[in-house]
Amino acid sequence: MNNVQLRQVGKVYAGGVEAVRAISIDIPDGKFCVLVGPSGCGKSTLLRMVAGLETISSGEIVIGDRRVNDLDPSERDIAMVFQNYALYPHMSVYDNMAYGLRNRRTPKAEIEERVQEAARILEIGHLLDRKPRALSGGQRQRVAMGRAIVRKPRVFLFDEPLSNLDAKLRIQMRVEIKKLQRALGITSIYVTHDQLEAMTLADILVVMNKGKVEQMGPPLTLYERPATTFVAGFIGAPPMNLVPLPEGGLPGLKLAKVPGSGRLTLGIRPEHFELTAPGTGPHALDIDVTVSAIEAVGSETFLYCAVGGNGPEIIVRVAGKSEIEAGATLRAVAEAKNLHFFDDETGVRIAD
Ligand SMILES: Nc1ncnc2c1ncn2[C@@H]1O[C@H](COP(=O)(O)OP(=O)(O)OP(=O)(O)O)[C@@H](O)[C@H]1O
Ligand SMILES: [Mg+2]
Repeated sequence: MNNVQLRQVGKVYAGGVEAVRAISIDIPDGKFCVLVGPSGCGKSTLLRMVAGLETISSGEIVIGDRRVNDLDPSERDIAMVFQNYALYPHMSVYDNMAYGLRNRRTPKAEIEERVQEAARILEIGHLLDRKPRALSGGQRQRVAMGRAIVRKPRVFLFDEPLSNLDAKLRIQMRVEIKKLQRALGITSIYVTHDQLEAMTLADILVVMNKGKVEQMGPPLTLYERPATTFVAGFIGAPPMNLVPLPEGGLPGLKLAKVPGSGRLTLGIRPEHFELTAPGTGPHALDIDVTVSAIEAVGSETFLYCAVGGNGPEIIVRVAGKSEIEAGATLRAVAEAKNLHFFDDETGVRIAD
């Protein structure tokens, strides 16, 4: 079993920077775990601790049934794919892929077999004699993947492997990585700050903030029931609308029911609004809005709206094209099941 367990893992760098704070994650054998969060939240540090490239300040990392804290990277049976691919420029694609196996004194025939097999899977068989400088970005990325695959590791580690590629290639490689990981069934940990990449790749999505886990679970669970305003604002594009409700209410906004008594932030996703004519209702949520800007992207349209005419801005998503024009006054309504409430001070979700 190649499950990965992080138990209360922490990292304090020399100089006192607390990059990772008591993180515990359980990744079952063969699952794809994605770490996502803003720059500097500790994603790479955590991954590098699993790889053995960074010492562990506290806690335990277990791969399979082995505690790996004190093992060298080479003894951990992991393969890592980096953002910059780290290919050897003077070696051919074949030699780049074979390098790690030769170091381990793998028999020549087996190296040949594994490199050819990986090249076939990645469709780079025709590139084996080339040097990395004669490859496109996407091809280099494949070679870096190939180098990881030939090792047949227990665990794949990826640190933003697609961020050097253009948008279209990113999406293509994202799908390929997912298929490949499924087919090979190798436990994987993948770091990104792209929430869409995180949502689409993950079996287990871990949202990190300031060295800690904000929330983890299946991607759609995080989408549907974010535990904090941080997660609500990070997952989804455009993100969830978060409207702080002042004491005494917000002009133009009416809620049928408000949970608890403290100061609240109301959360609602752009796709959960419906637009009606002013004066209709009442619904669980009624907001009188003035449309200030419109973004049409073909498949959908985003309306930027001011609550009550000049209050906070919310984004309303309309499927397909929209006839609505800037300056229009409308009523945006929503059902109770699509409303999220958070404690205004702590940002924590209020039980519902
Ligand atoms: N070698 C180091 N010495 C001291 N502090 C470090 C070191 N490496 C990283 N840090 C700090 O630790 C924190 C986490 O860094 P890390 O590289 O893990 O972030 P990240 O989530 O991967 O960010 P990014 O998305 O920008 O790659 C940051 O505050 C960073 O400045
Ligand atoms: Mg990083």
